[in-house]
Amino acid sequence: MKTVTARAFSNIAFIKYWGNTDDQLRLPVNSSLSMNLDGIYTETSVRWDEALASDELTLNNEQASGASLNRVVAHLDSIRQRANIQTYAQVLSSNNFPTGAGIASSASAFAALTLAATQAAGLDLNKHELSTLARIGSGSASRSIPAGFVEWHKGESHDESYAESIAAPDYWDLVDVIAIVNSGHKAVGSREGHHSANTSDLQGARVAGAAQRLEICKKALLERDFATFAEVVEHDSNLMHAVMMTSRPPLFYWLPPTLAIMEQVRLWREVGLHVCYTLDAGPNVHCLCLAQDADEVKAGLTKLTGVEQVRSAIPGGAAHVISVSEG
Ligand code: PMV
Repeated sequence: MKTVTARAFSNIAFIKYWGNTDDQLRLPVNSSLSMNLDGIYTETSVRWDEALASDELTLNNEQASGASLNRVVAHLDSIRQRANIQTYAQVLSSNNFPTGAGIASSASAFAALTLAATQAAGLDLNKHELSTLARIGSGSASRSIPAGFVEWHKGESHDESYAESIAAPDYWDLVDVIAIVNSGHKAVGSREGHHSANTSDLQGARVAGAAQRLEICKKALLERDFATFAEVVEHDSNLMHAVMMTSRPPLFYWLPPTLAIMEQVRLWREVGLHVCYTLDAGPNVHCLCLAQDADEVKAGLTKLTGVEQVRSAIPGGAAHVISVSEG
């Protein structure tokens, strides 16, 4: 028996994933593009143990039950099937950031779990397969497997829907400066959100233009063209939130400081700072900027009303194993 511990970074999407064509397999309606967040991670240890009568999960030092445990058990079922084992697992997982508040914890969590659990089961999977397996746990987790700047190809089947690195972390000096306006747990998680995306009249229009936005964003990234990048990233985030707000029931993730920060970011850009905003399914604002402007952005955000905390991350690496112990 061995215990494998893996670490995976969270990621922030430049072109968003919102809605599935297949909820079970988590095949997304559109491809997406993201950056891993160095230093913002989940660390997960897995030990398959013949003596256990069920899976056990400790999350941030507390014994988990209910929905979080069920979701992990369902994911372990997929891994048991892949590894052809029946054994239960002991899982210890912790995040070094607030859970469920717009820093995607499910992305890093399911990427780390997939890597640790497969390795502990004796499988040595390539990144493609790890990414497809992680996707079953949480769509965005597929993007936390490879390094740096990542594209998730939507694909038409389980094998085809995977994420791959399009540029190494050091390709572009971007920094994600995150203004945390509410570190509590969000009311409606992304799982329900993906499900209701199609109830918005705007989802069709968002999806129709997604491939083109992704191409524009990818080209801007590869050419390090910040002005083009900023416009398309903000537009894509606005489109996703327009879909959220017009879904039935509607999802309003913004809080008053959220909008104030978004306006401020646009003003900063007008006066020459290289910064733009993007938001996930939460009220916190990810301010993507060039490294040369990061200190000024951080200082500016800290002064704004309603900002509880500011964190920042440079592009992060791939999910990786940090320790293996026998016994
Ligand atoms: O992987 P999920 O189900 O947590 O979905 C993530 C959805 C967004 O964060 C809102 C967008 C994205 O592409 O990361």
